[in-house]
Parts: sequence; C-alpha cells; structure tokens
Amino acid sequence: MTLNGDNKMTTCSAPGKIYLFGEHAVVYGESALACAVDMRTHVTAKKSGSIKITSKIGTTGLDFRKHAYVSSAIKKLDVKDVAVKITSDIPIGSGLGSSAAVTVATLSAINEEYSLGYVKEDIARMGHEIELDVQGAASPTDTFVSTMGGIVEIPSRKRLEPMDCGVVIGNTNKGATSKKTARLVKQVAVLREEYPEVINPIIKTIGSFTQKGMSLVSEKDYTSLGKLMNINHGLLDALGVGTTELSALVYAARDAGAFGAKITGAGGGGCMVALTDSPGKVASAISKAGGQAIITKFTKEGILKE
Ligand code: PMV
Repeated sequence: MTLNGDNKMTTCSAPGKIYLFGEHAVVYGESALACAVDMRTHVTAKKSGSIKITSKIGTTGLDFRKHAYVSSAIKKLDVKDVAVKITSDIPIGSGLGSSAAVTVATLSAINEEYSLGYVKEDIARMGHEIELDVQGAASPTDTFVSTMGGIVEIPSRKRLEPMDCGVVIGNTNKGATSKKTARLVKQVAVLREEYPEVINPIIKTIGSFTQKGMSLVSEKDYTSLGKLMNINHGLLDALGVGTTELSALVYAARDAGAFGAKITGAGGGGCMVALTDSPGKVASAISKAGGQAIITKFTKEGILKE
C-alpha cells in the first residue's frame, strides 16, 4: 500500500519457505528444493522524525539485540528517519524462514518508500549479507526464495512454478532458538567425521531426490513426491536431527492420508511439512498429535508491494 501526501507509507510482504528435499545435504554441496509458502511477513515503512521499529516484541529505536534483522536492514540502506511496523504469520525460529522474510520485506518497503532503486536481486543479496552478519552463518536459500517466490533448486537457483496441491505445516513449538540451525549442522558434521563411510552415502542419497523431485513437480505427481519425502524424512532421522515430537506429527499426517510428510529445515524441533489433497483432515490429525497445524499453499509470489 502506498499513500500520497503526509500519510505516504509503503507496505511490502515476503513469504516463508519449506524444504521439499535436501536440507543438511545442501551444506555438503548437494542439491535441495526449497518452496515459498503463502505465510507472510508484512512490513510498513513510513518517513518519520526518527527511527522507530514496532513489532510484537515491542517498540524500539535501532536495536541490534531486540530487532536485529530490521535494524541491520535500516543500517544497510543508510536511512535515518523511518518508522517500520512488522506483522507476521510465520512462526519465529522454526525453520520456515521468518528471519529472511522480515529482512527482505524491510529492505523492500524502505527501498520503495525512499525510491532507492534497488531491484530484487539486490534485495536478495543484501538480505543474505544481513543474515550472515546477524547469524554468523547462513545459506542464501531463505533470502533468495523469500524474495523471488516459487520453487527453487539450490544451488542453481532454477525456479519452477509452484504446485497446486495442499500443504500442511506442523509446528512442534519446541526447540525454536536462533542458534538451532547452527547447532544441528554441527551435530551432523560431528557424526560425519565419526562415521564418514556411513554418513556420506546418506548425504549423497538425500541430494539425489532433488533432480527426480523437479520432474515430479512438473508432472504434478504428488503421490511419487510424497513417497520420496517419506524416504528423505527417514534419512534425516538417520542423521540424528529428528525428535519424538516431529515423528509423531509426521506419522499422524501420513496416517491421515498425506501423500508424504517430513521434517522441514534443520530439525531438532521446529516444523514438519505434509503434502496432501485433504488439508483439513491432515491438519486435524497433526493437532490431535500435539502439534500446531497450519494449512497453507505454495506460492509463486516472492516480495509483494501491498
Ligand atoms: O531450519 P532452517 O530453515 O534454517 O534450514 C536449515 C537448512 C540446513 O540445510 C540444515 C542448513 C542450511 O544453511 O542450508
């Protein structure tokens, strides 16, 4: 939304993402398939007397502890007089790309409000730089997918049109911390050092799903995609990133007829994802198994000006 005159302000939104295949293996150079989902973070930027950031955490000025990503985005664009307001339906720190979405939506809203002239590629690049800065380590996947939308193969960044089947996310509401991904990546690295002859083939096999998965996405073969997701889940479990709660939600979704269900993201808590043509049934099974179910869909829309 853009208003003229004194009330001028700009709102941009950006989506979260799930991994259909390939998390963890992507760290070792294997392919992954990440998909934007229609859960969004909305950021409004308005010229103002000073810097003010408002979210459900509260209202602050430039604050690199409480509003790390938004403060870094404001600093990156070198703006001194902006009021930024954030609302989001992406759970924080659960593997759905909430930090990437808030970062690229903030960069875009300020870019539009101040007519800075950056294009989407710049926003994705700056978003990744900010994530690296704030987190110490970050792959460019989340910021790229959130900026561009669609289904994206990593590392080639080839984009596919999204699928039209239902997606249900199950949140365990456990283990959500900003350090979770780094901890789990380290844990897999240690296991790999200990048993390279066992772990390396598992990582290679996980990497092999993406190529096959891309054809299946084009063919809309959800049954086969679901089967491969189930195998991918088993291998993530083998890498030690599963939890009792994640497994309970994955099996509940499958028992309710989902095409397939797996951990999405780093694991160790956080979220699972199910592909299904009966989202209501799968969501209610996930809720009964103790998870927070979110019915969503894939989206080809990345950043949107509202
Ligand atoms: O949980 P997320 O969304 O941060 O995903 C982590 C994916 C990993 O492959 C485990 C790490 C990475 O940076 O690719």
